[in-house]
Amino acid sequence: MAFKIAVLPGDGIGPEITAGAVAVMAAAAKKFKFGISHESALAAASAVDKGLPPLPDPTFKLCKESNAILCGPFGDPRWDNAPPKDRPERAKLILRKEFDLFANLRPVQPIKALIDASPLKRELIEGVDILVVRELTGGLYFAEPRGYAEDAKGKYAFNTLRYHVWEIERVAKAAFEAARLRGKRVCSADKANALESMQLWRETVQRIRDTQYTDITLTHMYVDNCAMQLVAKPRQFDVLLAENLFGDVLSDIGAELTGSLGMLPSASLGTGTPLFEPVHGSAPDISGKDKANPCAMILSAALMFTHAAKRPDIGKCIEDAVSKTLAQGYRTGDIARGSTGEKLVGCRAMSDAILAAL
Ligand code: IPM
Ligand code: MN
Repeated sequence: MAFKIAVLPGDGIGPEITAGAVAVMAAAAKKFKFGISHESALAAASAVDKGLPPLPDPTFKLCKESNAILCGPFGDPRWDNAPPKDRPERAKLILRKEFDLFANLRPVQPIKALIDASPLKRELIEGVDILVVRELTGGLYFAEPRGYAEDAKGKYAFNTLRYHVWEIERVAKAAFEAARLRGKRVCSADKANALESMQLWRETVQRIRDTQYTDITLTHMYVDNCAMQLVAKPRQFDVLLAENLFGDVLSDIGAELTGSLGMLPSASLGTGTPLFEPVHGSAPDISGKDKANPCAMILSAALMFTHAAKRPDIGKCIEDAVSKTLAQGYRTGDIARGSTGEKLVGCRAMSDAILAAL
């Protein structure tokens, strides 16, 4: 049976970068004679524009019946003032929750050819290899109670930062397991100096380490210090574990270390259909202009082969094709620095160059 992929191109630059990723994914599968089938479906603003909910039923069904979801960015500025529950991004949160995708892996590995595209100095960035493990189904994004209300002082809004022990345990284990395959070090970011939920987070992560992962070196860092350390001394990190919102913020910092948010892929794993998506957003300002960087989306397809299809050889081949293309000088606008040898290209030409390198 062919490996079945649900493709959700999403909003803004989503369709452009997805076209590139699907072409690369199909070519890589063919090269390795690995059977895949893929089907696209509507979600987020592109669905709402057709009078459908952000996550239409047929889309959810397709995802449920697939072996993996390759997902573009969701979000549209036309909903900037809408409450969270009515926004196109909601579709992504529903997928994460429904498929129980509690572990979000966001690898931060600067590509050699792009070291000088990083805003940090070469000496700080060389050798950086971080895996951000972000909790993805709990915390402020999902816990109840939440909403808008009113009292004697007027209108207010609120969210809840709550974590059960079991939620912390399972994502901590995911981080320790990942560390075992890498440098065997985990740094857990929290805010135990101010929040009870984060005190429980710290205690629980430490207990899992002490009872089940004594081969792993665990450190704890307050998240504000961690954000600072990420730009000051990024090489100190191996696996970086954080709750949902902290992980969201820290992974954007991590992404920028690599030169552009347009380079960073992610894998969301749990009990249901795993989901693979770029860390960046829908970039409405450049959408439809053939200016987007397809690399994060293409690298997300690579993570899909590695983690969902259990074919790290195919994943590695795609990653190598991306590195090779960048080494040849191809650059989309976000990673171009105007140096000699650079070939400034659009989204389509970048995808084609990666396809050729494959
Ligand atoms: C991400 C995004 C999402 C998040 C948004 C679109 C809801 O920023 O995947 O990092 O906050 O998780
Ligand atoms: Mn984010």
